[in-house]
Order: sequence, then structure tokens, then C-alpha cells
Amino acid sequence: MVTRAVYPGTFDPITNGHLDVIERAARIFDELIVAVATNPAKQPLFSLEERALMVREACAHLPNVSVETFNGLLVEFARSIGAKVIVKGLRAISDFDYEFQMASMNRKLAPDIETVFIMTSLEYAYLSSSLIKEVAMLGGCIEGLVPPPVLPRLREKLVERGCISHSGL
Ligand code: PNS
Repeated sequence: MVTRAVYPGTFDPITNGHLDVIERAARIFDELIVAVATNPAKQPLFSLEERALMVREACAHLPNVSVETFNGLLVEFARSIGAKVIVKGLRAISDFDYEFQMASMNRKLAPDIETVFIMTSLEYAYLSSSLIKEVAMLGGCIEGLVPPPVLPRLREKLVERGCISHSGL
């Protein structure tokens, strides 16, 4: 039996912390679908398609990983693709409350789907997409913190938004 897992997130943009979780989950499960959520509540910097494209580029070396976008309930999406496992990354204690809430709600909605947590590697424990954007906007160096294809796209987006000048990042 093939074990298919789904790794959901906003990925605005994907970071090396996300990629670390993806690479490790891809070694555990037969198939991993990275599911990029619309998430209008967060007002993402990048469009859904741009976020999915960056995840695809970052995961190009992983043959059992594919990337999809979704709208609506995660458990409905997981069911629609036949995934029995939801993978989430866990960084610090601060993540626990929210993740516990979401895992419990998802189990209530779909008891047949299990949430599995992967502890983020220590070197990425402090990373988040929000922090990456803040540092980049303020002219800090984010090399080594995001997959290489993200750097030019983030620079381009911040220039387009007037947040940095062409020489920034
Ligand atoms: O990367 P994020 O922003 O932490 O990802 C959050 C995400 C997309 C996993 C979460 O918001 C989600 O599952 N959204 C889909 C809508 C849904 O199912 N909501 C109920 C969750 S209990």
C-alpha cells in the first residue's frame, strides 16, 4: 500500500526550514504532496501561483514530491487526493498551541486522517516566512535561509512593491 501524505502551508515564501521538513517527510512517506493554501486571512505577499511555483522549483530534486494548490478545508483536500497523513513542522513551544488546536480540529473533522509532526532541525528553528520578509524588506541578507530560486523572486517582488531599491537584498 502506498502511503500518501500532504504537507500544507502558506509558503509565502518557502524557506529552508520548510524544505528541511519536506526532504525528511519525503524519506518517510511514499508520496508527499505539498499543498499550498490560498489563505486570504494572511494576505500573502506572493500570489498562490507564485508561491506554488517557488515550492516546485525548490523541490525539483525530490522525485516523490509534487505540489498542488488548494482552497477550503485541508481535510477535504487531503481526502480528495487520498492522503491519510497530514505532515506539519514543529519549531518551538510557541507553535505547539496552534498546531495542537489545528490537529485536534482536523481529527474531529476527519478521524481517518492522522497528523504527524516533524521537529524542525535546530539550524532552522528560528526561521519563518514572516521573518524572512521583514529582514529582506529592511535590507538584511537572507542568503542560506531560503531556497536559491526564492531570492530573485523576493527581490523582484519587493522592488515591484517599492519596499526596496534595485540595489537592495
Ligand atoms: O503555513 P501556515 O500559514 O502555518 O499554514 C496554515 C494552514 C494552511 C496549514 C492552515 O491555515 C490550513 O490548514 N488552512 C486550510 C483551511 C482549514 O482547513 N482550516 C481549518 C484548520 S483546523
